[in-house]
Amino acid sequence: MSAEILPFERTGDSPEDRPVLVVDFGGQYSQLIARRVREARVYSELVSHRTPAQAIRARNPRALILSGGPASVYADEAPKLDRGVWDLGIPTLGICYGMQLMALDLGGRVERTGGSEFGRADLRAAGGALLEDTPDEQVVWMSHRDSVTAPPEDAEVTASSPSTPIAAFEAPERGLYGVQFHPEVVHTAHGQDVLKNFLYGVAEAPPSWTAAAVIEEQVERIRAQVGSERVLCALSGGVDSAVAALLVHKAVGDQLTCVFVDHGLLRKDEAAQVVETFQGHFNVPLVHVEAEERFLGRLDGVEDPEEKRKRVGEEFIRVFEDEAKRQGRMRYLVQGTLYSDVIESGGTDGVAAMIKSHHNVGGLPEDVDFDLVEPLRLLFKDEVRRVGEELGLPERMVWRQPFPGPGLAIRIIGEVTRERLEILREADAILQEEVRRAGLYRDLWQSFAVLPAIRSVGVQGDERTYAYPIVIRAVTSEDAMTADWARLPYDLLETISSRIINEIPGVNRVALDISSKPPSTIEWE
Ligand code: XMP
Repeated sequence: MSAEILPFERTGDSPEDRPVLVVDFGGQYSQLIARRVREARVYSELVSHRTPAQAIRARNPRALILSGGPASVYADEAPKLDRGVWDLGIPTLGICYGMQLMALDLGGRVERTGGSEFGRADLRAAGGALLEDTPDEQVVWMSHRDSVTAPPEDAEVTASSPSTPIAAFEAPERGLYGVQFHPEVVHTAHGQDVLKNFLYGVAEAPPSWTAAAVIEEQVERIRAQVGSERVLCALSGGVDSAVAALLVHKAVGDQLTCVFVDHGLLRKDEAAQVVETFQGHFNVPLVHVEAEERFLGRLDGVEDPEEKRKRVGEEFIRVFEDEAKRQGRMRYLVQGTLYSDVIESGGTDGVAAMIKSHHNVGGLPEDVDFDLVEPLRLLFKDEVRRVGEELGLPERMVWRQPFPGPGLAIRIIGEVTRERLEILREADAILQEEVRRAGLYRDLWQSFAVLPAIRSVGVQGDERTYAYPIVIRAVTSEDAMTADWARLPYDLLETISSRIINEIPGVNRVALDISSKPPSTIEWE
């Protein structure tokens, strides 16, 4: 096949103008590949394998990476690539399924040899650009049934493993590179080196996608979009809305007004910190709506968890709308949509089962009469954090563990009263303080206190007590879909327990939740 090499026009200097496109064949690691590329400071986007060649060309990519996928290339429904893509002359790395498709389409052969590999494999490298400066023998991670038994025309085999004689190939003149193993997973010892060799060495992509570059680019975009209009932003105390707000403020200054609806269900000192950070430190125009009364009124007598969520959500919208009206005409609303939200709402049309959160964290009305400003739309969560750090957001906000929209209301089992809120807030503050002191805060996905709706007997001094227990919940997790209970050190648990019981009247017992998700959930309600 003769490759028609089409010259690309340079459209601009920003890293986003020349992305590395990760073509998604439905593999479970497609998103991870895009993240790893970005960790190498090269901007990347995930696109569907159905993207026509001309659309790929129009995006002006520096390189393509074809992801893995669950299918066999011979399956009836096997995802394919527009064959025109092979003629674009773009450096292309095929991973696992992507490698096999490359071989199949370009004159090689793929077969079920019986030599499938799952998990750790020993790779023997034999030259080539991808494995440059990596050891001759190294550990990689494989997951495949079919194998490439002949590489594409003109390609040389550059690595093998005991059951996969063709574990990598390269055809530099044609810009084709394939690896059977997964360089994106951490179990592949030199995986990131392989990706960097491809990105810097083969595709000549500069490592220019940095937090500073993101900020510069977004600030320009926001300015261009917003002009001289006014912008409204709802702050929650979480990192996404905080970073989004700071980017917009950097771009258009006091055209931005932030509204912080304080529902009185936050943790100790959290509201004060939001106000201090935004108003005090960054001088962002901020309206702090102290609406505890309204929310507690709506929660009066409510015990059902879903009813609590519904009422907090509805009230949030009402309070926010009231405040928005008071502010006068605003054309734009900031939303902290992340790149993973874009992907998960079907953005890349991937064939992988979409993992979706069932919780609506944003909580803003859907039919609002605003145009949206979404400065985080291109960013993964870890990039949002890096941008937050670069913008000078306090460490506490940048690394805050996830916190549910309805706040402490769903960590108080049964009725939410002012008295019970106070008990939980104090217990939670002690727990947070000790977890941080032990240096474990960032290792935990979430750590918090729960107040059950029971009381039990205790003895303090000479007196018998009849008081609430506090439950410690601490979990590790990657994405909240599954979670394991964290093995906190005994002496940390002891400190937390004795401090909570000694310092908080109304508590006489501390219990530890040792349930994983599934079958339990992270939150108690
Ligand atoms: P579960 O309890 O279902 O929680 O294992 C998974 C993740 O979602 C968070 N969560 C919520 N977030 N509103 C939110 O914004 C909610 O109503 C809500 N309920 C749970 C929870 O903290 C965990 O991170």
